[in-house]
Amino acid sequence: MKVLIAYMSQTGNTRKVAEAIFQEVRDEKEIKEMSELDSLGGYDLAFVGFPIHGFGAPDEAKSFLENHCKGKNVALFVTHGAPEDLEDLQEWLAKCKEAAAGANLIGMFDCQGELAQGVIDMLLKSPDPKLRYFGEMGPTTKGQPDAARLERAREFAREMMEKEK
Ligand SMILES: Cc1cc2nc3c(=O)[nH]c(=O)nc-3n(C[C@H](O)[C@H](O)[C@H](O)COP(=O)(O)O)c2cc1C
Repeated sequence: MKVLIAYMSQTGNTRKVAEAIFQEVRDEKEIKEMSELDSLGGYDLAFVGFPIHGFGAPDEAKSFLENHCKGKNVALFVTHGAPEDLEDLQEWLAKCKEAAAGANLIGMFDCQGELAQGVIDMLLKSPDPKLRYFGEMGPTTKGQPDAARLERAREFAREMMEKEK
């Protein structure tokens, strides 16, 4: 089986998850940034990862899923500043899943990633109290994804590979 790990990452969190998944795959494999790819031809399974931006998938990820992933076996992985148990997160993750509607989605992984200081500063200045609250939570995201989260990502990779065998 030929496996691709495709990701986008502005501050490195999603890249860490992508690399953990890549390490765990024992089959023929490649890891690439989405921007480097113009086709998924030749791959039997693609792990596709991105951060949540603005309560859903970023435009680059939406275009990638729309243009390249239709009818392909895809396992999604997503990082977000919100803690995993935040209620609103389920809605944001559902939007990410919708963005992959044309693909044959075999599974989805998500975990918290550190919020960049620039994002924290922007949130703290927002007139919206909810966004200011997210900004106040910013420092608690430091160091994410941590070792335990990366281990969960490796476990996800093993499960997805098993599913496709
Ligand atoms: C423009 C922007 C918008 C964001 N919007 C959200 C959001 O809606 N919900 C959330 O939980 N995190 C949000 N984040 C935080 C990122 O999803 C989080 O820090 C992620 O781990 C970044 O991944 P990266 O380092 O791979 O870019 C946002 C970050 C940026 C830069």
